[in-house]
Amino acid sequence: MALTSPVRRAAIVGCGDVSVIHAEAIESIEGIELVAVCDTDPDRLESATIDHGVAGYEDLGEMLAEARPDVVHVTTPHHQHVQATIDCLEAGVNVLQEKPIAHTLAEGQRLVDAAESAKAKVGICFQNRYNVSSEEARRILDSGLLGEIQGAYASVVWTRTADYYRARPWRGTHAESGGGLLINQAIHTLDLVQWLMGEVVAVDGHAATRKFADVIEVEDTAEALFTHASGAQTSFYATLTAPVHRPVEIEIYGDRGVLAIRNGLTLTLADGTVEVFPERQVASAGRTYWGVSHEILIRDFYASLDEPEPFWISPEEAMKPLRMLKTIYDQTHGK
Ligand SMILES: NC(=O)c1ccc[n+]([C@@H]2O[C@H](COP(=O)([O-])OP(=O)(O)OC[C@H]3O[C@@H](n4cnc5c(N)ncnc54)[C@H](O)[C@@H]3O)[C@@H](O)[C@H]2O)c1
Repeated sequence: MALTSPVRRAAIVGCGDVSVIHAEAIESIEGIELVAVCDTDPDRLESATIDHGVAGYEDLGEMLAEARPDVVHVTTPHHQHVQATIDCLEAGVNVLQEKPIAHTLAEGQRLVDAAESAKAKVGICFQNRYNVSSEEARRILDSGLLGEIQGAYASVVWTRTADYYRARPWRGTHAESGGGLLINQAIHTLDLVQWLMGEVVAVDGHAATRKFADVIEVEDTAEALFTHASGAQTSFYATLTAPVHRPVEIEIYGDRGVLAIRNGLTLTLADGTVEVFPERQVASAGRTYWGVSHEILIRDFYASLDEPEPFWISPEEAMKPLRMLKTIYDQTHGK
């Protein structure tokens, strides 16, 4: 499907693992052209310029001035998100930034404030909101079909190796990542929990490093009970210590039925009716646990450039899961 004209000039800052899926999406969507890449690491930059056949820059300011992109995809480590995004906004360039909004709440708020006065748009990449299961769950909840919502359960039970952290040391540090499993992996599920179940008004949680304590200073396991504005609660468990990747699970219990997200979505009503909504197939460049919806979000972000409203997954919206997980960190460290 073609986007409306004109052709949008795209650039990527941060040519690491996830940039591949952004580049693949840009290259597959008609009406968007990748014009430049930027990375402070000369080796990464060189291989990205060769892979994509575009100009490469070690300096973001130089790329903005010379390549004149319409949109920059910010795919740097967490502590390098906000300054890069603000630099682009100040140059009048739209930004699609990877999650989390920032590695700290203060940095996140700095971006919220900058976005409010910016003329350009900014969206945060919570692509799992575009999964069939998430969209259908949102629609079914809005319809009232489940009756009164009594509560929810969510889990992220995945596997990681010490090499995952050794290959990218920033992922294991408080200073650069801002946390571990919660801020890097489970943040997508925290976002879906608050998006589907409503505003979180209380958090009671704990984080721990169970398996990788000799490699990382951040957590690899966490649990929490979230209380939503409705009074309903979500029990939550997440770990990277499992031997395999289990599918992310979110179950929402109403007095007239149950929604179960596990790959796709299964709706089971009290009268025995069962309806299944299968998930889309996995995109080729991404890892399966990243989900299938990066390209759909990217397409939607570019389409939103023709509209006057802010992109719906805004910095303000992205602060919500960050607040949930930072509260768990504070509780763990007795703050
Ligand atoms: N949405 C998702 O499902 C998903 C999946 C994976 C990663 N991510 C996010 O993507 C981001 C990057 O993760 P990754 O695993 O690709 O990291 P990575 O370490 O593989 O890549 C980051 C790249 O950014 C470069 N970089 C660092 N600082 C820079 C700067 N100031 N300017 C330019 N380049 C800079 C590094 O040299 C590196 O090449 C993180 O925020 C991560 O949470 C999101």
